[in-house]
Parts: sequence; structure tokens; C-alpha cells
Amino acid sequence: MHLYRAVSEAMTVHETNFFRDRTTFDALRDHILPKLIERRRSSRRLRIWSAACSTGQEAYSVAMLLREHLPQREDWDIRIMGTDISQQTVEYASEGTYSRPEVNCGLPVRMLLRYMTRSEEQWQINPDLRAMCDFQRRNLCVSTAGLPLFDLILLRNVLFYLDSECRTSLLTAAHHHLAEDGFLVLGEIEQAEDVTDLFQPNDSAASLFYRPRKIV
Ligand SMILES: C[S@@+](CC[C@H](N)C(=O)[O-])C[C@H]1O[C@@H](n2cnc3c(N)ncnc32)[C@H](O)[C@@H]1O
Repeated sequence: MHLYRAVSEAMTVHETNFFRDRTTFDALRDHILPKLIERRRSSRRLRIWSAACSTGQEAYSVAMLLREHLPQREDWDIRIMGTDISQQTVEYASEGTYSRPEVNCGLPVRMLLRYMTRSEEQWQINPDLRAMCDFQRRNLCVSTAGLPLFDLILLRNVLFYLDSECRTSLLTAAHHHLAEDGFLVLGEIEQAEDVTDLFQPNDSAASLFYRPRKIV
């Protein structure tokens, strides 16, 4: 591994877990995903970006919620893209294999048994859930060119690692890549004032959800 990347891997905090921040995932389940599903009922197409996905639990948690809402998922074209600057975490996420402590942290037993399969001491994401997600290495501080338009962007627990220039350009890019009626989700300790020019709080759900403002 290149020295710079090795140092950066060692210094970066990859902490995450399934359904991290219960209130956010409750709001996703009860308000945001039902709204998006209703809005996309004719196209049956959903694009979701878990930016800074770490080892993938955030992306798989959203995939599980979508499966709960859409048992007939085969009729829908759903892609969840997970990206992270760390090659190691992206590979881990792609593997979709988690230890017992990892699945014991935040994942309801019902979801564990429905969407994962035990293999000795490890738990493996089931193939149909795995097939909904793509993982790739991407630095959020460089160009987001080539990314599609998303219906939902999760930008959680990463903004505070970035300098203000990068935060501003990333939020501008998120605005550019978010559908007009899509949603941005921040982490519980993210700075809302960073986003006020480009996004407005969504009033019908938890305060960490934002809608893009129209730029005239
Ligand atoms: C604390 S984890 C957050 C994981 C997940 N979003 C969550 O909320 O549980 C922060 C992640 O941000 C990633 N990260 C930090 N700087 C980044 C950058 N410039 N581009 C992409 N990912 C970055 C780290 O590698 C790490 O995996």
C-alpha cells in the first residue's frame, strides 16, 4: 500500500454499525422511504448514495428497510452506492461478512435472521440484499463527476473530518447530485449551518433530513 494511503487509513475513524442512530433510521423507515417510494411509484427506480459508507453497515441497513417496504422488490430498479476513501473498508463492505459483535450492535434479531446467514462465527449478507449495493473507493474531496442523480444521499459522520473548503464543495456536489424532491441525511453531530444556503430542513421528519433548495 502507498505510504500516504497507509497513514491515512491508520488515522481515519471508521466507526459505524447497523442502524446507527436509531431516530434517523426510524424516520427513514416511517417518513422518508415511504415518501420516496410513493414519488417513484411510476418509474420504480431508486438511487441511493451512502457517502463515506465505512464497512457498509449503513448501506445494508437502508437495503433492509427497502426490502421491508417493498417485498416485491424485483419490480423495482434499486441501486445503493456505498463509497469511502478507504480501500480496506470498501473491500470489507463488498465482502458483506460481519463478526458476531458487529451484528450484535444495532441490528434487530429479526432483521439478522431475515437478511443474513450464519457461517460458523461470521454472518454473511444474503445475496439478494448484497445485489442491491455497489461499493467503490472515492475521495469526497475530489470531483464527484460521473455520479448519477440520487433520490437519497446519506452524508453522516464524515463532514467533521473535512476542512471547510472540502465541506462546501462536497455539499455543493451533493446538491447537484440530489433530485429536486430527494433528501439529504446528515449525522447527529453534523453542522446544520454548513448546509443552509443549499438545503432546507425537512419539517415532517427528524431534523437531520434536508431537501434541496431551488437555486435561481
Ligand atoms: C465515522 S465513519 C462514518 C460511517 C457511516 N457514514 C456512519 O455514519 O456510520 C467516517 C468514514 O468517512 C470516511 N472518510 C473520511 N474522509 C473521507 C473522504 N475525504 N472521502 C470519503 N470518505 C471519507 C472514513 O474512511 C470513514 O470510513
